[in-house]
Amino acid sequence: MELKLKQLKQKSLLELQTKKNLQELESWNIKYFSRQNGELTKILRSIANLSLEEKRKVGSLANQIKQELSIAFNKKRKELKNKKIEEFFDVTLPGKKPKEGHLHPITQVKMELEEIFKSMGFEIYEGNELVSDYYNFESLNIPKTHPARDMQDTFFVKSETLNLKSETNSKFQIKTKNQKLNIQKSEDFVMRTHTSAMQVKIMENKKPPLKIIVPGRCFRNESTDASHEHTFYQMEGFVVDKNISIANLIYTQKVLLSSIFKKDVKVRLRPGYFPFVEPGFELDCSCVICGGYGCSVCKHTGWVELIPCGMIHPKVFESAHYPKGKYTGFAFGMGLTRLVMMKYGINDIRLFMSGDLRFIQQF
Ligand code: FA5
Repeated sequence: MELKLKQLKQKSLLELQTKKNLQELESWNIKYFSRQNGELTKILRSIANLSLEEKRKVGSLANQIKQELSIAFNKKRKELKNKKIEEFFDVTLPGKKPKEGHLHPITQVKMELEEIFKSMGFEIYEGNELVSDYYNFESLNIPKTHPARDMQDTFFVKSETLNLKSETNSKFQIKTKNQKLNIQKSEDFVMRTHTSAMQVKIMENKKPPLKIIVPGRCFRNESTDASHEHTFYQMEGFVVDKNISIANLIYTQKVLLSSIFKKDVKVRLRPGYFPFVEPGFELDCSCVICGGYGCSVCKHTGWVELIPCGMIHPKVFESAHYPKGKYTGFAFGMGLTRLVMMKYGINDIRLFMSGDLRFIQQF
């Protein structure tokens, strides 16, 4: 038994020296000290069967060896831990590049557009997502009974469920008499269906000349498909001054679209109806995918419908309390999400909010 113990000590200490990391050291510990099958544990257990005299002799040797091995184990563990720390702080090793996130493609295009507009002298406002019915509809020449309300499926919000701070918390804080009055009524709040909801709110607080853009989320209570979402981005723009004409509108859109698609594009206007512009248009852009020759994206017409727009209706200026007949202006409400789809050839709008990394990592 004594010989067995001495051999075990020699063997285990030799093995201990070869251990290169904490994992290997732990296997060594299990091999000799494990409660059930440890080699030393087994020997210690068998001492119980020896005679009293032998027990005394072998027992003290066994305890001594156990202690020596424990000390050697602890020393080795300390050594390996220090080595690990040293390795960790080795400044000469090349660093590991952490995985970086990036901006969402809609945010990227939004920022790109903002830069283009800023270079043309536009100011940027954000505005509220929760707005009064007055600013979303009535101030834009869409009274309660107007059939044009059906053009936009609306999320109505009961004012009892609102913490009314939400209107004043947002970045663009403007309160008006009308708003204060409207807050009292229960059916008066909506999730904005379009960024046009900011037009009168801004005009009430700023006098012309105005060159404004309002990018932001809009909400519509509609079933989703490849080109419709309940939550999507628009970018409103409007210019108000004396003698603003349709020519100014066309020029602005042409510069904008050529800058964003990074090629010269043609634009054309077709009549379109929106109660807050007169005349109203749908602005088409020559298809950037096929260069105007015809493809599946432009449904083989060579044109893509991109930006609803028009000359601001006198009723809107009336809502803003501008002097009658003094100013003219144009406005447009670009579907930002759809513009991003067009720019990158994305065929399903639902991908943007799918949370699918395989999609998002491509941008
Ligand atoms: C409007 O929202 C008007 N406010 C635009 C406007 C502004 C006209 C100023 C005149 C002057 P419309 O409902 O067509 O118009 O929406 C504008 C754009 O938003 C559409 O061309 C489309 O690109 C985008 N859009 C509308 N609904 C959705 C939807 N459910 N999902 C994704 N994009 C949408």
